[in-house]
Amino acid sequence: MTATLVGGIGELVTNDPTLGDGSPLGLLRDTALVVERDRVAWVGPARAAPAADLQFDAGDRAVIPGFVDSHSHLVFAGDRAEEFAARMAGQPYEAGGIRTTVAATRAATDEQLTAQVARHVDEMRRQGTTTVEIKSGYGLTVVDEARALAVAHQFTEETTYLGAHVVAPEYADDPAAYVELVCGPMLEASAPYARWVDVFCERGAFDVDQARTVLQAGKAKGLIPRVHANQLGPGPGVQLASEMGAASADHCTFLDDADVTALADAGVVATLLPAVEFSTRSPYPDARRLLAAGATVALATDCNPGSGYSSSMPLCIALAVREMRMTPAEALWSATAGGAAALRRADIGRLSVGSRADFVVLDAPSYLHLAYRPGVPLVTAVWQAGRPAIG
Ligand code: NIG
Ligand code: FE
Repeated sequence: MTATLVGGIGELVTNDPTLGDGSPLGLLRDTALVVERDRVAWVGPARAAPAADLQFDAGDRAVIPGFVDSHSHLVFAGDRAEEFAARMAGQPYEAGGIRTTVAATRAATDEQLTAQVARHVDEMRRQGTTTVEIKSGYGLTVVDEARALAVAHQFTEETTYLGAHVVAPEYADDPAAYVELVCGPMLEASAPYARWVDVFCERGAFDVDQARTVLQAGKAKGLIPRVHANQLGPGPGVQLASEMGAASADHCTFLDDADVTALADAGVVATLLPAVEFSTRSPYPDARRLLAAGATVALATDCNPGSGYSSSMPLCIALAVREMRMTPAEALWSATAGGAAALRRADIGRLSVGSRADFVVLDAPSYLHLAYRPGVPLVTAVWQAGRPAIG
């Protein structure tokens, strides 16, 4: 079996608290790691590194786990740059904008949608993302939701059925019939390509009873719930996520004390999406309150053409530190191990023996530079499943 020694690691973030400095990041200095097949086979001091068939020199730079972007909406066509410009001139963000993208997505060919997802996944990889979750939700017909998931499934196992994104325009006068469609034939056609079921539980989208019905139907089909919750205002989404044993409640921008407690007690990951607050000029979620309550916090991009069209996990880290007062260490953990927790994955988001060999070499001496040097392309090499993908 071919072994590759990755040497010259000035600083290694393992996210294994039993390694290194004892912090959650499990920081090690002057380290090497050995990759065999798609896994990390050895981690330790550079001077003790075993012999290997191949060598890769990180050049005394920082190496971190690949980012786990646990929330994106990459299957879409068209863009909403005009809507963004109007928003920057004072218009509020509203859920209804989703329908503009639905029309463009339905009109696109399978090849166009596939090329679009490929382009964005590549854009993410170049910024250090090695795992991405992708949702449907811009088709809103049986055929269009199933094909969105079939396209997404070519790029990731982490696919999410979001037929309940908004009520399809054809059902504007009969939302109950749309919920029946989402829980019936649309779910039937989509489930083979999906691991997760999600619902936008918000004013202008689905109320709590509709959302519960959708999540229960998804669960009955073997899908695991996650929820778009408390994004545009206070509401029942987070409580529903806790009640349903969801893996994650996403956005969490408007929470009361009971919501915070519910997330921490139920072990539901709070996935914060600060690029959305940036792009909608909204208040940021209160990460410190969640962390103080003992909730697990993940950071993700939410990359979509409406509320936030950024594919950049480094941007999310910089915003989390600058605007949400997370420490650089908390933000990096949330963008890697936190995302893995939101996807209930133990094999990614960390770099210790047995982990998938997904890692990023930063052109920096320390991970601190991710927030310290915002907007700077620090990612110089990306390895995915034990192979060099970039650099
Ligand atoms: O996560 N909130 C619902 N869905 C997306 C926005 C989709 C859109 O505006 O097109 C979100 O922000
Ligand atoms: Fe989203």
